[in-house]
Amino acid sequence: MVNTHVNLSGFELDNPVIPASGTFGYGYEFAELYDINILGTFSFKGTTRDPRFGNPTPRIAECASGMLNSVGLQNPGVDQVIAEELPRLKKCFRKKVIANISGFSRDEYVCCAEKLAAQEQVGLIEVNVSCPNVHNGGMSFGTCPSSAAEITRAVKAVANHKPVYLKLTPNVTNVAEIAKACEDAGADGISLINTMLGMRIDLRKRKPVLANTMGGFSGKAVFPVALRMVWQVYEAVRIPIIGMGGVSSTEDVLEMMFAGASAVQIGAANLQNPFICKEIIEELPAVMERLNIQNLTDIIGAAHS
Ligand code: SIN
Repeated sequence: MVNTHVNLSGFELDNPVIPASGTFGYGYEFAELYDINILGTFSFKGTTRDPRFGNPTPRIAECASGMLNSVGLQNPGVDQVIAEELPRLKKCFRKKVIANISGFSRDEYVCCAEKLAAQEQVGLIEVNVSCPNVHNGGMSFGTCPSSAAEITRAVKAVANHKPVYLKLTPNVTNVAEIAKACEDAGADGISLINTMLGMRIDLRKRKPVLANTMGGFSGKAVFPVALRMVWQVYEAVRIPIIGMGGVSSTEDVLEMMFAGASAVQIGAANLQNPFICKEIIEELPAVMERLNIQNLTDIIGAAHS
């Protein structure tokens, strides 16, 4: 019998499969499709201090082997998440969840982190300093080592001893340098990658397809880039990594882990096939046996040696 358990800074998971923020709502929506308790855990929709309507439409564009989104952090705000979304989730999910937070100032990150860290349903805080779809927030904190470190320190100070993972952008020259700055500032782990900045043009309208002109590109096409960045960050830090970006199969999950991920998030593939995480979890033991992997933890970073 193979062992699929993994550990994220003390947060024990039955398996490494985690639906990514923004592709799984607040969870209960998917509980109508299958028992979501089979998941390692999931990361809920990026939550800000105040409710946000998001960017104007169109905010989705299809691409070969991927998609662009410019959602713009649409969410009901942290107080409503605590008052309504988490209680609804509790009825169908008995595990702890990853709280994904975003903001436009250090104080906003602190406010969201403090409120969510106080919830017993929250097992880990994922700090999104990488959203490419908003101005003066999100990614602007994650493209510079000193501002990523500043947010890390501020969130850690109010995190109620819960693990704090910084979610990083691929839209930088040296992702390892930013990951290292977060580690030095006290981060418990790193999540990467968020989406890559991209755009499309509508030839009939002679205008960008997205109302916001640019958006974040995700899906199968980004997998090699994500894998490369997980590899580079693994070489630069000693804290755990949650790998993501274009993961759509059991083999992709294992590749991410060989590159250095302790757990793996699945994003765009969830939107194409809402059962993808269930299918991967069910297939994982057989694929491990075929590849002669007894314990998943043995393969974390194993391709480096
Ligand atoms: C969004 O809401 O714009 C997507 C979240 C993100 O890219 O971080």
